[in-house]
Amino acid sequence: MAAVHSPPAGDWWRDAVIYQVYPRSFADGDGDGTGDLAGVRARLPYLAELGVDAVWFTPWYVSPLVDGGYDVADYRIVDPAFGTLAEAEKLIAEAREFGIRTIVDIVPNHVSDQHAWFRAALEAGPGSPERELFHFRPGRGERGELPPNNWPSQFSGRTWTRVPDGEWYLHLFTPEQPDLNWAHPAVRQEHEDVLRFWFERGVAGVRIDSAALLAKDPALADFEEGVDPHPYIDQDELHDIYRSWRAIADEYGAVFVGEVWLPDAERFARYLRPDELHTAFNFNFLTCPWHPGRLRQTIDDTLAEHAPVGAPATWVLCNHDVTRTVTRYGRADTGFDFATKTFGTPTDLALGTRRARAAALLTLALPGSVYLYQGEELGLPEADIPLDRIQDPMHVRSGGTDPGRDGCRVPLPWTADAPHAGFGALTEPWLPQPGDWPSYAVDRQSTDPGSMLALYRRALGLRRSSDGFGDGPMTWLPATDGVLAFARTHGLICVVNLSDRPAAVPAHQELLLASGPLDDEGRLPRDTAVWLRA
Ligand code: NOJ
Repeated sequence: MAAVHSPPAGDWWRDAVIYQVYPRSFADGDGDGTGDLAGVRARLPYLAELGVDAVWFTPWYVSPLVDGGYDVADYRIVDPAFGTLAEAEKLIAEAREFGIRTIVDIVPNHVSDQHAWFRAALEAGPGSPERELFHFRPGRGERGELPPNNWPSQFSGRTWTRVPDGEWYLHLFTPEQPDLNWAHPAVRQEHEDVLRFWFERGVAGVRIDSAALLAKDPALADFEEGVDPHPYIDQDELHDIYRSWRAIADEYGAVFVGEVWLPDAERFARYLRPDELHTAFNFNFLTCPWHPGRLRQTIDDTLAEHAPVGAPATWVLCNHDVTRTVTRYGRADTGFDFATKTFGTPTDLALGTRRARAAALLTLALPGSVYLYQGEELGLPEADIPLDRIQDPMHVRSGGTDPGRDGCRVPLPWTADAPHAGFGALTEPWLPQPGDWPSYAVDRQSTDPGSMLALYRRALGLRRSSDGFGDGPMTWLPATDGVLAFARTHGLICVVNLSDRPAAVPAHQELLLASGPLDDEGRLPRDTAVWLRA
């Protein structure tokens, strides 16, 4: 790997706090039960007061919403359920006036089966140039009745669907999300145009969905366990695609964050070379259990893998795909794994919340940028969605064993005493809110100094206004077993107690913030974190 790259100082994205908005569930401006851009515009003051630097919007483009908008039918039209393109432009500009940058989501691996390209491909038939934009193949077996290869799906179930004329098409996700053929120049050209389309409208960054899956083995050869390279994960061709994207982003001063799930640190870091993506989500941290040794190792590995390419780390605890933090941290197994999700896993929410509060101070003190998923600042738990209301295709495709991802996508509670907890809906919201949702409402937490919201507001305020946070070095400090303690610059110290007994607080000039009260002897209770100035 290349020598250490020194980035220009002062790049906002190197230590930003980026808030993820899932527009369907953030705030409902028109009362139809689905969140929308009008709802977001009305809540910009809330985001500004919270103190975030940027907002990443999950897809807001026109879509049949088979996979929550990750099935895009047209990137140049905002879904009417969310608003209009003109409204998106206004939102981007208004957010900027509040000092908040906008990041949009691009889903290059696939499109919706309602996208004009796919409809034309179906119409045009086998052997047509329209079909070359996708992966259409004849089947195997005597009558072509078997799928062209054995590739496993990213969602359980098949990766191939047969069309009436007998050909099959590839979809790593649902059948309604046909995979694009990235070896085709028109596919590359179109995405470069889409990037420009949104950069022209003032977006500051793009989140790249399934960023390591686009390129496929040209032979579409069978997948064999343990044989490298994988036929569709992390193909070398991807880097060329991202180099050309980077050149476009550089023209606009815009940045990328890649959704790159790769266990191999060196392969992961390749995407973050100075002429490729600026950042990528830190899923190793997200999936890491609440365990002192494991967390410390993950932090060390993260910093070590980013250093050679000069990219800042990102710290992520949650997003719209995974079990909410307070629920996860209250379970016996505090890690996250898609493969082991089941219904009814018991959790201790008081414990999980305590840990999530400590984790908030940990992540916000680490070097790099932080992603915050809507509702995390409210300490929302994962909701149990009645079976007949689950919409996530992951649930159906698992044969009903996987609860799916709707439990972390429930419309937000804003006002405790308003209908539907003030989400804004006049009718029942698209996903039902649990009965105790009002107790998490923004208005209630705003007046409670002990609330999760109060902690986040205070922490983000300090992180922005005081020295030592964000990009820069960190050093582990000696600490007793089960305690993580590290120093940043300017005497900033963060201590997190993951042991089962109270821990001594190191000498300090000032206690900046604690995730919970210290005990009577001034010690740090278990599952509590503190920021100090030495
Ligand atoms: C990752 C997204 O975060 C997820 O929600 C989506 O289902 C898949 N990619 C497919 O686009």
